[in-house]
Amino acid sequence: MKKRKKRKKFRLKSSFKRFLAYAAVILILIIYGTISISNNIKEIKYHESFEYKINSIGYSLEDTKKMIEILPEKSLQEIVDANEVNEIYPNIIKQKYFLLKNYDEYVEYKTLNKNTSYEDVIAIVNVMANKGWYSQSFESNIEDGYSMIVNKFYYLKPEYERTDLVNIALSYAYADNKAASIVVEEYYKMWQDVKEELNVHLMVNSSYRSYEDQEEIYNSFKTISLKYADSYAARPGYSEHQTGLALDITSLEHKGQNEFKESEEYAWLKKNCYKYGFILRFPEGKESITGYNNESWHFRYVGNEVAKKIHDENITLDEYYAFYIKK
Ligand code: DAL
Ligand code: ZN
Repeated sequence: MKKRKKRKKFRLKSSFKRFLAYAAVILILIIYGTISISNNIKEIKYHESFEYKINSIGYSLEDTKKMIEILPEKSLQEIVDANEVNEIYPNIIKQKYFLLKNYDEYVEYKTLNKNTSYEDVIAIVNVMANKGWYSQSFESNIEDGYSMIVNKFYYLKPEYERTDLVNIALSYAYADNKAASIVVEEYYKMWQDVKEELNVHLMVNSSYRSYEDQEEIYNSFKTISLKYADSYAARPGYSEHQTGLALDITSLEHKGQNEFKESEEYAWLKKNCYKYGFILRFPEGKESITGYNNESWHFRYVGNEVAKKIHDENITLDEYYAFYIKK
């Protein structure tokens, strides 16, 4: 009797064990199946992703991820539709002064101007130079203070005149020159340091000019040709001289603009003027960004902080304004 009970118990135990074994196998199969189905779904989804599509065209994974991080879906889809690697896309977005709002224009400009460097493409588009000089006009924002922009797109109304204009004393300038009081104050300091270091006397040739003064100058340049006038003189309303923040400087020792350009005082000013809040406004090599030929005499006051940034980053006021103020 005892023995039978034992055997029954044993049989029960072993069938339960078998059941557990089957259950375990089934469970493993279910888990395995679920994992592989979800992996398949993941893979199908990955194949539909921009990362897979763009990477498999031939862009590096790093470039692909950066483009996805920065560009909107519409632009990513265009990259996919093109279906061949175009280095313009990843190179454009890596530029220091890249602004997303200008992306399409950068791509268009670089495509049409293959020899223009990426740096210049970004700068040209940021300052709107790709649209054509004077093709659009915006009133300059006086609230921008010493960083205010006046160029071939931003103008001042004919009646605009600063209220803090002061005369520049005759030892420092030719007759009838005036500028904003801080500009004159900083110019005097700069003048003194140039005198002490180089024994040279800077002289201001031209400074504040009213709308009407500028009209007269521009019209006289125009008698040579429109192209000449637009390369050297601003149209009335579009001249920085109306801001009262610009000074045309040469020296008593090198009066002519060409000889001044070769002088050590010009080299000194280029290197040091930012310490007094000035920038060389139309530098060599930046003609396609400023719209003017190099003017070795034209210095613009923007204040110490902005001048240092412009100097350190080797950009123009136009680029600074587009990237740091307007954005
Ligand atoms: N000469 C510069 C361009 C001006 O008039 O502002
Ligand atoms: Zn000037």
